[in-house]
Amino acid sequence: MNIVLASAEVFPFAKAGGLADVSGYLPKEWEALGHRSLIVMPKYGDIDVEKFKLKPMNLTIAVPMGSWTEFAQIWSATLPDSTVPVYFIESADYFDRQGIYGNPDGFADNNRRFVFLSRAVFELAAALNFKPDVILANDYHTAFTMPFLKIHYRDHHLFRDTVGVQSIHNMAFHGVFEPQETLYLAQIGMDQFYSMSWFEFHGALNTLKAGIMFADKITTVSPTYALEIRYSDQGHGLQNVLLERAGDLIGILNGVDYKVWDPETDDSIYVNYTTDTVEKKWENKYEFLRRSNVHESEIYADMPLIGMVSRLTDQKGFDVVRDAIEYLLHIYPIRFTLLGSGGREYENYFRDLNLRMHPRTLIRIGYDEQLSHRIEAAADIFLMPSRFEPCGLNQMYSLKYGAIPIVRRTGGLADTVFEFNAESGTGNGFLFDDLNVQSLVDVIGRALNVYYNKAAWKKAMRNAMTADNSARKSARAYLEVFEWARRGR
Ligand code: ADP
Ligand code: GLC
Repeated sequence: MNIVLASAEVFPFAKAGGLADVSGYLPKEWEALGHRSLIVMPKYGDIDVEKFKLKPMNLTIAVPMGSWTEFAQIWSATLPDSTVPVYFIESADYFDRQGIYGNPDGFADNNRRFVFLSRAVFELAAALNFKPDVILANDYHTAFTMPFLKIHYRDHHLFRDTVGVQSIHNMAFHGVFEPQETLYLAQIGMDQFYSMSWFEFHGALNTLKAGIMFADKITTVSPTYALEIRYSDQGHGLQNVLLERAGDLIGILNGVDYKVWDPETDDSIYVNYTTDTVEKKWENKYEFLRRSNVHESEIYADMPLIGMVSRLTDQKGFDVVRDAIEYLLHIYPIRFTLLGSGGREYENYFRDLNLRMHPRTLIRIGYDEQLSHRIEAAADIFLMPSRFEPCGLNQMYSLKYGAIPIVRRTGGLADTVFEFNAESGTGNGFLFDDLNVQSLVDVIGRALNVYYNKAAWKKAMRNAMTADNSARKSARAYLEVFEWARRGR
């Protein structure tokens, strides 16, 4: 199959969260399975052109916008460990600035930026004479490719047989814009915008809704989330839209690129280890503590290290972590490490906490790829008390690194983490339901009980490290959906 993957984030070029990881590994896996794909993404101002060997191509595309045409030079690079081409759309107006989305509030011109990106996907494929069997849109940022496919390119010789698949990584972001300007830029008449139409939601233009309605098939990133977004407020208002399309919606669990995330081969961590050499995890912890300025006399092998690596948002349950953390540190002999960035208030809170509590807390505010690997290797326990979690990648990385996950039973967390039972020796983590301080106290207490039973803990680690959440499995499932979409045309 010929596949176009359109995404606002692709690892390693530009990343805000898991979307980048998924956009980066899928095409690699498809290539290994004998399929041809290309990636289209923006050329953001902060992409490291030298490091990732981006080259300007002798190619400028014309992108229709409103009543005019804009021109974009194309840059290219290759996805690491593959021959998959990645095409970067250059635009001084839209992308040559710091950041991907302009969070927390979003850039004021995100409607223009993402209409432009979505339109450029087609003009680029056409310029390359690439005839896609499928276009995979990811989240609202590239969702406009779905109506574009059906409205502007339906009769185009390259796209006539192309199917559109909309992938949802997070229902919390719909891309809600003012309709008049946005549809004008998209060259779609306002006659398409009326109450209950495919573009309209509560009087505004809803980009994700349009993606969902115009797509041939819809995927989201875990089976549980596929249910939650239809039947609960996890749909953030769009649950009826998803119910309407329930027959075309399927949850495919994300996977792990074990070429990047494997303690046996990871060169970011201090000491490599496998299920047979888990003692070496202690060496990672020791080295991590030492380099985090924990004095030799305060490094205890059997003091469990609880880790978190995350965007600092309410989605990830940080309000409850903030309320609970000092009490937890007071009642349990634990150490807490956090690497995160995001909400200003959370950043300030955790920075201040660290001033008071170091070395019981080891907190780093910022974004650091290498440190995220080191925390997985060092931590005994990995905490993800997410309010909602479409899939979550960190709990799967943690499993592989033997950092036993403690997670709230929601979305992809519920599909990948199973309660450990010391008697039967089954399970790979600990789960809880209610998002409050007491639940955290209880579940951590339960985990610590097992932690001090060396044999049981080792069993839990073995179960965790041998869980198979490979990206290959996930990539295959997407191919099946693409075939399903093609059959349905
Ligand atoms: P989400 O996409 O909702 O943020 P995921 O668990 O799917 O959640 O993916 C998060 C990804 O971002 C993981 O690869 C994680 O390691 C990474 N990440 C998040 N915060 C940081 C950070 N501060 N430094 C380094 N990596 C981070
Ligand atoms: C989103 C979700 C996360 C998911 C990621 C990749 O950012 O919050 O749960 O793993 O996308 O699909």
